[in-house]
Amino acid sequence: MNGLTDNSCGADTTSGHDTIRAIRWRDDTLSLLDQRRLPEEEIWLCPGDAAAVTSAIRDMVVRGAPAIGITAAYGVVLSARQHYRSSGKAWQEKLVADLELIGSARPTAVNLAWALSRMQECLQQAGTDPVAELLEEARRIHTEDIEANHIMGELGAGLIDAGMSVLTYCNTGSLATGGYGTALGVIRSAWRAGKLREVFAGETRPWLQGARLTAWELMRDRIPVMLMTDNSAAALMQGGRVQWVITGADRVTANGDVINKIGTCSLAIIARHYGVRFMVAAPCSTLDPALADGAQVEIEQRSPDEVLNLAGRRIAAAGAGAWNPAFDVTPAELVDCLVTEQGVVRRPDREALKGLVAANQTQKQLD
Ligand code: MRU
Repeated sequence: MNGLTDNSCGADTTSGHDTIRAIRWRDDTLSLLDQRRLPEEEIWLCPGDAAAVTSAIRDMVVRGAPAIGITAAYGVVLSARQHYRSSGKAWQEKLVADLELIGSARPTAVNLAWALSRMQECLQQAGTDPVAELLEEARRIHTEDIEANHIMGELGAGLIDAGMSVLTYCNTGSLATGGYGTALGVIRSAWRAGKLREVFAGETRPWLQGARLTAWELMRDRIPVMLMTDNSAAALMQGGRVQWVITGADRVTANGDVINKIGTCSLAIIARHYGVRFMVAAPCSTLDPALADGAQVEIEQRSPDEVLNLAGRRIAAAGAGAWNPAFDVTPAELVDCLVTEQGVVRRPDREALKGLVAANQTQKQLD
């Protein structure tokens, strides 16, 4: 992939089905579309420093693995701008402390650490104007993500035959990325190509990313969607209503295990049972060759309140506790295709992942 393109960080409104951008950097200000308020209200928040960016990521103003990484990168720019002018020689130490703070916001999506490490590398090589160089790097991370999503969209859509229907899960679209989306990018591309009969989306308890965000995105971009409760998946697949399940990932470990929104593993098991194919779309920034398998990944545990309450109202019986892991591990053997911007890997395993990581490194050196 080569650097910046005209498509950059603005929505490509001319092509239809792709009008949303939820992270903006304009006039030296970072703006985030508050995903906690969707679909009722479209409120933009402007975190002004690293602490505010950390809270925005932790509290799910912005969520989705690539979107978290991009926001973190802009957070480093805000930090650099603040400390470079006011802290004399200590500015780099303050910046490193802020990098650690932002990095602690959420543990599971590797894109956060990946983006921060790119920013740190940029800092180490920066010349006379480090703030400008960091901003350029953050913009590059943002733009490259959108480019990768378009490539994955085409590659993934190429695997889908005309007239097929798909089930997607969580939110993997423009809200979860720099724009266009991973799994939802594949769906956008397949829809634009006229291939899809129906798109089903699981509501994604407890945070309802499917019902609140995916449905909002698809409605906004004129792609019809059928929402379903998460526990309808077996009935849907048993009835032959979908031919593909398509999800994103928060981390893919060296052996091809996929860590994604809690419930993804159940979908993969059901899909294999009923002969429905399972596709994971994730950029190379989501690969984590440093971890051998999914068992080594820290799974974020979230507040029991998300399970005990719905739309701000208590639904569970008084006194009940709740277990609320935010992600699960889908074993590599349940994945039929891993779609990345470097190509499609069928039946991902350790060998294939090694090749993918190497191809990505070679590409980076060429860029
Ligand atoms: O808790 P979230 O909403 O941040 O979880 C998001 C997901 O699990 C997505 O499926 C994943 O980040 C891939 S999005 C491109």
